[in-house]
Amino acid sequence: MSFTVAIDGPAAAGKGTISKGVAAHFGFAHLDTGLLYRAVGRRTLQGDEPVAAARALTAEELEQGDLRTAEIAQAASKVAVIPDVRAALVDFQRAFARRAGGAVLDGRDIGTVICPEAEVKLFVTASAEVRAERRFLELSAKGADVTREQVLADVRERDARDSERSTAPMKPADDAVLLDTSDLSIQDALSHAIGQIEKAKPATL
Ligand code: DC
Repeated sequence: MSFTVAIDGPAAAGKGTISKGVAAHFGFAHLDTGLLYRAVGRRTLQGDEPVAAARALTAEELEQGDLRTAEIAQAASKVAVIPDVRAALVDFQRAFARRAGGAVLDGRDIGTVICPEAEVKLFVTASAEVRAERRFLELSAKGADVTREQVLADVRERDARDSERSTAPMKPADDAVLLDTSDLSIQDALSHAIGQIEKAKPATL
């Protein structure tokens, strides 16, 4: 039996942490769809043409090297604007969503475009300042040479590009539950998400 949880929202709102926590709690599979765009973005930084890169993408590439750098994030956001890049990644995401045993997908357009029939849709947000601070701490902990100001500017630039693009812009689905994590601990945010899923999950799963 399939059961899909769609978790969308802007960068560093807590989607990744919530998605991993939910997947671990319920024993669901988890796909961070941002990694697909990041892997395509990384290929373009190496000189590949974006649509060809998206069509040739392999699951193994998602595991190789560090895709979570600021440079790759920007490249990902740029290739994500191209409709043919997005189209090339749809089937993989939908097949993942419908696998037996439950799946959590996090991204920008999961509840609106990839899985409009998802049984649970959450849209996780937080203020740009809070998100930039979280991302700054994350990148600094990895030794990246960044300033708070740079990270905030980066977050704002990516928000604008992701929400203003014409194909599959980042926005909550009409039936998504909004979860603002600005003033929530990770544990509280996760408990809230788990509560929403408990309400929708069939007892047999
Ligand atoms: O979630 P992330 O920060 O790893 O995503 C990187 C970029 O990929 C993001 O800025 C926009 C794009 N993206 C997208 O357009 N659609 C998704 N479902 C996931 C990510």
